Amino acid sequence: MSISLKNRSLISINDYTPEEICHILDIGEDFEANRHQDLLHGRVIASLFFEPSTRTRLSFETAIQLLGGNVIGFSSTSGTSVQKGESLKDTIIMVSSYADLIVMRNPIDGSARFASEVSSVPIINAGDGSNQHPTQCLLDLYSIRKTQGTLKDLEITMVGDLKYGRTVHSLVQAMCHFNAKFNFVSPAELRMPATVIQHIKNAGLKYEEFTELEDVIPHSDIIYMTRVQRERFPDPLEYEKVKNSYVLRNEMLANSRPNCRVLHPLPRVNEIHTDVDTNPKAYYFQQAQNGLFVRQALIAAILGLK
Ligand code: CP
Repeated sequence: MSISLKNRSLISINDYTPEEICHILDIGEDFEANRHQDLLHGRVIASLFFEPSTRTRLSFETAIQLLGGNVIGFSSTSGTSVQKGESLKDTIIMVSSYADLIVMRNPIDGSARFASEVSSVPIINAGDGSNQHPTQCLLDLYSIRKTQGTLKDLEITMVGDLKYGRTVHSLVQAMCHFNAKFNFVSPAELRMPATVIQHIKNAGLKYEEFTELEDVIPHSDIIYMTRVQRERFPDPLEYEKVKNSYVLRNEMLANSRPNCRVLHPLPRVNEIHTDVDTNPKAYYFQQAQNGLFVRQALIAAILGLK
């Protein structure tokens, strides 16, 4: 059966089946082998970032340019009519009359789903509050498959801010398709939300919660570090209490599995010491680069060009 994602928004990773997810990863491999493919001639893609970004915005915009398309949009609401009080609904209705596809990051949970309901063109969610970051999830899956040779039967350790970190929410949901075993390492205040845990239970899979990182390193295939999301804390004092909870250092990887890889969605603050960067198990910069190929694949698939 052929797979088509033409005109399909991507709001949550759950919007796509495991077969559709793997289809995007396969197309991503094609772009990794040949990133210059002039598929978007004359197409306009809107890149609307209501919240800061380095990797997601720049990799999307690079992807569009490498595909021969044109980008419109903004990297902050400064200088837009959002500053005059224009609603998200009106902004999306207008932009969807200019562009063939909209990539949007917004600080409000659920904003991407809302945008997809008022837009006349597909929406790609580039992160909505602490809810979902499905394109990060795709590049995480791509990186896991590339380094482990499979997505199946892996032990994934997620570390840090599991409450506000949208990337781990998306990744748990996706890895539930592939019989993962999950280890969650966090301070009590930043545990994985019950809704995400329920997803694991519904899939009949196993998870364990830890407070000490050292306990889980020796049996992890993937160690997925995350930043404590300062901008999502209602009380800055609460952030101060937990901001330095976990710092991965090179010596801590001494007893890790040979296939173990350290991932991080980036940006990091101090949760991975720079002495890890030269360890062959550090994969976070290649992981971010993989985002380019996966985003090329996603754009091409949604526009019906792959
Ligand atoms: N991983 C990620 O979303 O990074 P940016 O915030 O820089 O886009």
